[in-house]
Amino acid sequence: MSNTVIVGAQWGDEGKGKIIDFLAKKVDAVVRFQGGSNAGHTVVVNNEKFIFHLIPSGILHPGKKCIIGNGVVVDPKILIAEIEDLKSRGIKVDDLYLSSQAHIVMPYHMEIERLEEEQRGEGKIGTTKRGIGPAYTDKIARRGIRVADLLERETLTQKLKINLEFLKNFYGLNLSLKNALEEYLQYGRKLKRYITDTSMLVYELMREGKNVLFEGAQGTLLDVDHGTYPYVTSSNPTAGGVCTGVGIGPTRIDKVLGVAKAYVTRVGEGPFPTEIKGEIGEILKNRGKEYGSTTGRPRRCGWFDGVVLRYAVRINGLDGLILTKLDVLDTLDKIKICVAYKYKHQVIREFPSQPRIWQECEPIYEEMEGWKEDTSKVTRSKDLPWKAKKYLKKIEEEGGVPIHLLSVGPQRGDLLVLD
Ligand code: IMP
Repeated sequence: MSNTVIVGAQWGDEGKGKIIDFLAKKVDAVVRFQGGSNAGHTVVVNNEKFIFHLIPSGILHPGKKCIIGNGVVVDPKILIAEIEDLKSRGIKVDDLYLSSQAHIVMPYHMEIERLEEEQRGEGKIGTTKRGIGPAYTDKIARRGIRVADLLERETLTQKLKINLEFLKNFYGLNLSLKNALEEYLQYGRKLKRYITDTSMLVYELMREGKNVLFEGAQGTLLDVDHGTYPYVTSSNPTAGGVCTGVGIGPTRIDKVLGVAKAYVTRVGEGPFPTEIKGEIGEILKNRGKEYGSTTGRPRRCGWFDGVVLRYAVRINGLDGLILTKLDVLDTLDKIKICVAYKYKHQVIREFPSQPRIWQECEPIYEEMEGWKEDTSKVTRSKDLPWKAKKYLKKIEEEGGVPIHLLSVGPQRGDLLVLD
């Protein structure tokens, strides 16, 4: 396998964790490049469920290097808990590497996020409450605390002083320097063995001809630049985020694959043109167990959106697609697929860049016959019902890219390689 990027092609929750776990077998390292513990990547092995918030989803494969890049925002409390949990379940965490340049999510980031969401009222984003937005705000405002700072008492003291003063003046928050200092220095001591220059590590791996997999979190439509702003996360989950979030040049990337669900879901607020309100939405939610793995919130469900797929292909330069959760559609009589939007009297085939249009456009659907057969037991692509094959073909046509892999169930083995 070559150096490959895996990104979400929709609004996140496409099932990337399982795909990364599958592809990790074929590579030497798996690297997270953006986001933080807002992610919840799920891998099910022999009915045992693992949810990864910060640790790359390759960790279940011994000997694979799992790297948290500089573009990730790290809540050390959550990372340490994740390491401890894995160890207590018999999983070795020796090959974990944490960028010294990654930014730290502090408890006050959660508090700021709570205040900001409260202030937005009806217009709230519906965040995961993990402090992600405020942590990235501090990074861009150049007052962020970075992983390496947890190893240096003097630097951390100075940075905390500046931040606590700022929090007092702007948010009226009075926080104790001493408590925060000792707590975060202790986290630094616990994480010290994992902290390194991960940009250099990835560079060396590539120089040795090793294969690296880049694990995107969230999805294309949640990208802070290219998503449905302001209803987005605060990082770049699209393929472009790999270069800045790891510290490698674009010439080092060989392939970009998108993961999409066979339908669409979204958590939190914001536009969602193909959302289904009613019975079928409930069927998808229940059959697909569509509840957030980080927050437990029910996900909004909708029909597959070809306009969104074309957009993801364009923004990420997708070479191919991995489609998940086809089996969730098994019981439906009719399945709709959105091929364009109608806005006033216009037909739009490309995702519009203005928020006003998302709110007002209506999906134009093509209706297809459901296959009404259990696909979850299918092990060879040629044994898929022909109506399911027709549905996959239609998705490929809409996106203009081939589907390489198909997931038909939550277990590690429920995957079909397509011709
Ligand atoms: P934040 O990333 O917590 O700031 O949340 C911003 C938006 O991104 C909200 O709509 C969240 O529901 C959404 N979001 C963040 N992380 C994920 C994810 O891993 N899957 C799906 N949605 C996410």
